[in-house]
Amino acid sequence: MKIGCPKEIKPQEFRVGMTPNAAQEAVSRGHDVIIENGAGIGAGFDNDDYVAAGARIVDSAEEVFATAEMIVKVKEPQAGERKMLREGQLLFTYLHLAPDPDQTHDLLESGCTAIAYETVTDANGGLPLLAPMSEVAGRLAPQVGSWTLQKANGGRGVLMGGVPGVGPAKVVVIGGGVVGTHAAKIAAGMGADVTVLDRSLPRLRYLDDVFGGQFKNQYSTAGATAELIQTADMVIGAVLIPGAAAPKLVTRAQLSTMKPGAVLVDVAIDQGGCFETSKATTHADPIYEVDGVMHYCVANMPGAVARTSTIALGNATMPFMLALADKGWKQACQDDPHLLAGLNVHAGQLTYYAVGKALGIDVVSPNVVVKS
Ligand SMILES: NC(=O)c1ccc[n+]([C@@H]2O[C@H](COP(=O)([O-])OP(=O)(O)OC[C@H]3O[C@@H](n4cnc5c(N)ncnc54)[C@H](O)[C@@H]3O)[C@@H](O)[C@H]2O)c1
Repeated sequence: MKIGCPKEIKPQEFRVGMTPNAAQEAVSRGHDVIIENGAGIGAGFDNDDYVAAGARIVDSAEEVFATAEMIVKVKEPQAGERKMLREGQLLFTYLHLAPDPDQTHDLLESGCTAIAYETVTDANGGLPLLAPMSEVAGRLAPQVGSWTLQKANGGRGVLMGGVPGVGPAKVVVIGGGVVGTHAAKIAAGMGADVTVLDRSLPRLRYLDDVFGGQFKNQYSTAGATAELIQTADMVIGAVLIPGAAAPKLVTRAQLSTMKPGAVLVDVAIDQGGCFETSKATTHADPIYEVDGVMHYCVANMPGAVARTSTIALGNATMPFMLALADKGWKQACQDDPHLLAGLNVHAGQLTYYAVGKALGIDVVSPNVVVKS
């Protein structure tokens, strides 16, 4: 199969859809890999790395889209890219169609087949192509939070691990899923005193079994949150209610009960944020202050560590990318219901129910399409 990887054009996106290692795996199976000139630069891969892997470099995105049978990307195709998609072409990338009617209509009109990273599933009911970015954001949260805690950045001037004779920072993580667990591990590793709140008892049991000695956990209620934030140096928001906006778990009125210079890191900002005073920020201007409390609310945290994020995403997408290339999308999806769960669009038809419901568009069952 001819597999094409264009340079990402969404502002501040430095990741790339294929690593040189992924390209090499595809080439070794007899596929033809076409990479746009400079596509990997933001993630630290230059053209020579791809050439050494056996890929071809072409000058423009137009050439990639015109040549490739499958396009592998990171972010949803932008308007100009969507115009280059054609009937029968396969698109494998993050799409997030439910809040994006323009993109959905363009993909339907193009006649392409689009498989969305974010809806591919695994045997445990997880989302294996979203998890790596939650792992990155979770591990980054205490890192950016501890920087914000420094006095010169508006914080309380507290060191995460303290020193002999001086106690550590108190960190509260609200939500003990993928983001929260990775945030708690890193905060505890930095020496902080960490408590994780979650509403799921099975999740709290898991955290207690596996991490009982490293950090504490507590059942999440409004009362428990109100009490813990009063003594916290840092609060990390990591909740998710699938398909819904994040619940507001810390109100503006509660900020006055917190220590001046305490830090809120709202990782859930991409779902609207779980603190009432959160508003999305960018890597260029990531923090702001409300009522004496510092806020960090970057909606695309993994972009800060584009190289790690690219490799982590590539590790997760590669087996699916190879299956699609080896077998073609139809056979690959017939063989793997978890990959079929990623099918959102085929030949002018929408095949993902939640997107159809959100946008009021009729949906054809992916099980019907894949057998047609
Ligand atoms: N900002 C970024 O760059 C970035 C990157 C990756 C993920 N995210 C976001 O981070 C959030 C968390 O993602 P995840 O992968 O960890 O999800 P997850 O489903 O693995 O975990 C969410 C957890 O929140 C818990 N929860 C729900 N309501 C709660 C409440 N009221 N109190 C305490 N816990 C509650 C759930 O029980 C679950 O354990 C999502 O909104 C996701 O989109 C943001």
